[in-house]
Amino acid sequence: MPNHKSKIKNRKSKISSPQSPISNIRGGDPLLTPKRVSDSQVRLSLVMNPDLANALGNVHGGQIMKLVDEAGGFAAMKHARNVAVTVAMDSMTFLSPVHVGALVTLNASVNWVGRTSMEVGVRVEAENVVTGNVTHTNSAYLVYVALDQYGQATPVPPLIVETVEEKRRWEQAAARQAHRLQHAKHQEPRTGNAS
Ligand SMILES: CC(C)(COP(=O)(O)OP(=O)(O)OC[C@H]1O[C@@H](n2cnc3c(N)ncnc32)[C@H](O)[C@@H]1OP(=O)(O)O)[C@@H](O)C(=O)NCCC(=O)NCCS
Repeated sequence: MPNHKSKIKNRKSKISSPQSPISNIRGGDPLLTPKRVSDSQVRLSLVMNPDLANALGNVHGGQIMKLVDEAGGFAAMKHARNVAVTVAMDSMTFLSPVHVGALVTLNASVNWVGRTSMEVGVRVEAENVVTGNVTHTNSAYLVYVALDQYGQATPVPPLIVETVEEKRRWEQAAARQAHRLQHAKHQEPRTGNAS
C-alpha cells in the first residue's frame, strides 16, 4: 500500500509530465496566470435584419467587419481581463454573400500573444435556418493591444496551447505578426492635412 510520501511523489510526477499543459505555455508576462485558448473563446450569433443590408437584401460587408472586430475584441479582453484596442486587421475577403434573415455566427479565439499584443482569429458563418445550409462567409485575423487605466499598452497573460490545432495556429500567427511588424516599419506615420 503506498504511503503518504509516495502519494505526493505521484502527484508531482503527474504535474510535470510531458502531457502537462505547463510545457505549452507561451508568450505573455510570466508573472501573470497563463490562460487556455478555451478560456477566452467567444461565440456570437445574431440575425441579419433589413437595416444591416442594401436594397437587394445583401448585408453590407462593413457590418460583418464591425461584428468581426467586436467578437475579436471581446476574446482579447477576456484573455487580458483589460480593455483592448484594435491595432491591426488583416485584409478580409468575403467568400459568399450574407442575406437578410441569415443567422450569422462568429467564432473568435486567441491564436497568439506577444507581450502586450494578441492575435485573434475570427471565423464567420451564415446559416439559412429554414434549409439548414451553412456557408463560410469569411475568416479574419486581428491584433489587439491591452491597455491599462492610463491608456498605456500593458502586459497580457501567457497562452496555454494544448492541441495540435492550437499549436499550428500559434506558429502561423507568430509568422503573420512578424510580417506585420516588418511591414509597419516601412510605413511613415502621417500627420497634418492631406494635400
Ligand atoms: C495600440 C497602441 C496603444 C500601441 O501603443 P504604443 O505605445 O505605440 O505601443 P508599442 O509600440 O509598444 O506596441 C504595443 C504592441 O503592439 C504591437 N504592434 C504595434 N504596431 C503593430 C502593428 N502595426 N501590427 C501588429 N502589432 C503591432 C507591438 O508589437 C507591441 O506588441 P508586444 O508588446 O506584444 O510586443 C497605440 O498604437 C494606439 O492607441 N493605437 C490606436 C488604437 C485604436 O484606437 N484602435 C481603434 C481603431 S480607431
